[in-house]
Amino acid sequence: MPAEVNTLQSPTSDLPLVGEADVELMERVRSKQAKIAVLGMGHVGLPTALSLAEMGWKVLGADNAIAQVERLRARYVPFYEPGLSELLDKHLGNNFIPVDDLEAAIREATILFICVGTPQRENGEADLSQVESVAHTIALNLNAYKLIVEKSTVPAVTAEWVKRTILRYAKAVPNGNGSAGEIAFDVASNPEFLQEGIAVRNLFYPDRVVCGVESDRAKAILQEIYRPLNAPVLITGLSTAEIIKHAANSFLAMKISFVNMVADLCEVVGADVTQVAAGLGMDARISPGFLKAGIGFGGYCFPKDLRAFIHLAEEFGLNFSLLREVEAINQQRVEVFLKKVRKALWVLRGKTLAVFGLAFKPGTDDTREAPSMKIIERLLAEGASLRLHDPRAIPILKQSLPEKEGSIKYCEDPYEAAKQAHAVLLLTEWPEYRALDLTQLRSMMEVPVVVDGRNIFDPAQMREAGFEYISVGR
Ligand code: UDX
Repeated sequence: MPAEVNTLQSPTSDLPLVGEADVELMERVRSKQAKIAVLGMGHVGLPTALSLAEMGWKVLGADNAIAQVERLRARYVPFYEPGLSELLDKHLGNNFIPVDDLEAAIREATILFICVGTPQRENGEADLSQVESVAHTIALNLNAYKLIVEKSTVPAVTAEWVKRTILRYAKAVPNGNGSAGEIAFDVASNPEFLQEGIAVRNLFYPDRVVCGVESDRAKAILQEIYRPLNAPVLITGLSTAEIIKHAANSFLAMKISFVNMVADLCEVVGADVTQVAAGLGMDARISPGFLKAGIGFGGYCFPKDLRAFIHLAEEFGLNFSLLREVEAINQQRVEVFLKKVRKALWVLRGKTLAVFGLAFKPGTDDTREAPSMKIIERLLAEGASLRLHDPRAIPILKQSLPEKEGSIKYCEDPYEAAKQAHAVLLLTEWPEYRALDLTQLRSMMEVPVVVDGRNIFDPAQMREAGFEYISVGR
């Protein structure tokens, strides 16, 4: 199916409907009598479910992790995401019902969003066992027409596999009226482009919505769902939508690795990477986003999706060496940063280091694949004693990296972390760090060295405040 862009501002979508069943279905969709089940209540599923609830849909938020569902029922969002608690508070018990019975949710809903995890295997390949298991469960509970929308990040041809799995297992199930396997369903791919920390904003104001579909019916339902958003909707085939998601993440990761190499070059020739990035970003063909040099990209998506994309290409005999280089450059960033720390402090054994920022980026408590974690591991191995601060990530991180006398101490505020430190290492650009009182900060430290991995301070101002200041590409 060729790609087409629809700007969905028309009051209703005009659809070529086939038969009475479709007319009745679309009536239920337009009147929002058709329910939605979001399967998987993690970083993608929960924001998706709550945004649909806000748009007026009756949403079942399903997860078979009972503890997760219990937390939602108790109005507790299990991870930090600005705006999400408010949405949960507003819709819990009316438009949004958390449930731990996936099968019942599937039977009750007409539209199913698959938002389960797709972690990576040792070899970089995406582990699709949760997606397969959900597809299987859907097959066994296919009691009426369903639109099954794949939202988790998955390699191309996953939607095709979801379809095949449903067909295979649904056929084998006697559903009481003898029509098993003949119940209509559609599979669609509707990748998310949510950024942690601003996921709620991304949901209501997306740059675009991508819908990979195979039927006019699926297209019409998705158009109806996204009609209230003032965003272009790109209609494509299934695997095209899947590739768009992977290509977008890989391209953004490529921009970051690119600018990080430019930063290294800036350092040796005496240029300023922030100005270089500004100059680059003014070119509309390049655009200013994702050109901030630093300690490299982390998080649950970029590293994992990049590896999965490389792996997918390889599976089909293609060598996407460009992306291998993007990954290699990113991995080197930790060493590049550590070199700066060693250059400033010489020996690390016995030194006290204040670490500002643990989350992989501001606005989240997520430290998965965060460059900070690799840096901390290396600093500890080299015998440094760490005083750690982060506005959000500490409670979760403490569980996997507990305090340890003489080497790991968590601190309530950045000034306390800086106490008697031989250097402050800034690893996440939380806004509160920009607002620090530099005189107070300096007065807490044993030696006034700041190694800024995110370029948040002005070098001249830092020198004026009495710091030895080292940043990236400036
Ligand atoms: C990303 C994609 O942006 C999103 O569309 C997709 O759905 C999920 O993956 P996320 O992982 O939440 O979102 O974070 P993002 O804001 O993209 O940042 C990823 C990493 O890149 C962070 O570690 C961040 O610090 C780093 N980064 C980002 C840079 O180093 N420089 C930049 O200019 C931008």
